[in-house]
Amino acid sequence: MSKKIKKIGVLTSGGDAPGMNAAIRGVVRTAISNDVDVYGIHWGYQGLMEGKIEQMNARDVSGFGSLGGTKLGSARSPEFKTEEGIKKAIEYLKAFEIEGLVVIGGDGSLRGAMDLHNRGIKVVGIPASIDNDIAHTDFSIGSDTALNTILDALDKIRDTASAHYRGFVLEVMGNKNGYLALTSGTAGGAELIIVPSTKIDKDKIIHQIKSAFLRKKSSFIAVCAEGASTPEQNISDLIVSYIKEAGFECRKTVLGHVQRGGKPTGRDRILGNAFGHAAVIQLIKGNSGIMVGDVGNNIECTPIPKVCEDTKNIKLPKEVLDVIDDLMI
Ligand code: F6P
Repeated sequence: MSKKIKKIGVLTSGGDAPGMNAAIRGVVRTAISNDVDVYGIHWGYQGLMEGKIEQMNARDVSGFGSLGGTKLGSARSPEFKTEEGIKKAIEYLKAFEIEGLVVIGGDGSLRGAMDLHNRGIKVVGIPASIDNDIAHTDFSIGSDTALNTILDALDKIRDTASAHYRGFVLEVMGNKNGYLALTSGTAGGAELIIVPSTKIDKDKIIHQIKSAFLRKKSSFIAVCAEGASTPEQNISDLIVSYIKEAGFECRKTVLGHVQRGGKPTGRDRILGNAFGHAAVIQLIKGNSGIMVGDVGNNIECTPIPKVCEDTKNIKLPKEVLDVIDDLMI
């Protein structure tokens, strides 16, 4: 039996996501409850390379559950992708005698975790990204809050769109993934949803817009995933031009970073605490190079290389996916 781990570290990396603080809370409290010392690493891998490391106690994470952003801070660190950068990070982990690390973040952060695992550091990943684009977990931390933030905005835009008999294009985040566009468009009753895999058929879309207004709709809302655009073609602008060509006034709203912040929903808080707990238990068991995920409401562990290789499928009940077109009439 391997020697029980005595000290672990926790960091948040990449884009912040609501519920990251709940995950930090889960990690810190589970570690302390199991007699493991826990160190918070500030500003992600960048802070690890700079030794921004501090011991945390149970009271340090009081009230964390309800906080958006990440109290540990986060960063996207190009330096950590270099051999030199990884060496610096490992030196600090050794200096603080940190034997295991919990990495809370998206796919880029998980790849970084794997680099450390391959050099002998025990690492467990927690999926956190509003994009919900990480394979082998039904949900990543933050995606539910972002969905609800978008819905709040969409409902407000609907008021104005209806009042003015207008079309609106709402561009939402999601990186290359269409989860936020598909779920918010479905839940918000959008008349058109464009995800990265949507084949743009101009005639069909113009017919859809014209017939919506002929059917006495007072507004037409298109939700477009940012990832549907290419460097050559901004899809939101294209849809705006179609709505205008169909004869209606149109405005575009790019929601941007408001989607990343705010109080986490209950679901993201529960996920954060549960993932934080599970990650520490895995380190205590001596496991490494894995990500904890929510698969069918169970916590499952998947090797990080498999997580990074596989494509995330958008999880909506099949019944909903089958009837989206019927709902848009
Ligand atoms: O991955 C989260 C995300 O918000 C994406 O939806 C978006 O494309 C990207 O990060 C924006 O990154 P940044 O905050 O670095 O501009």
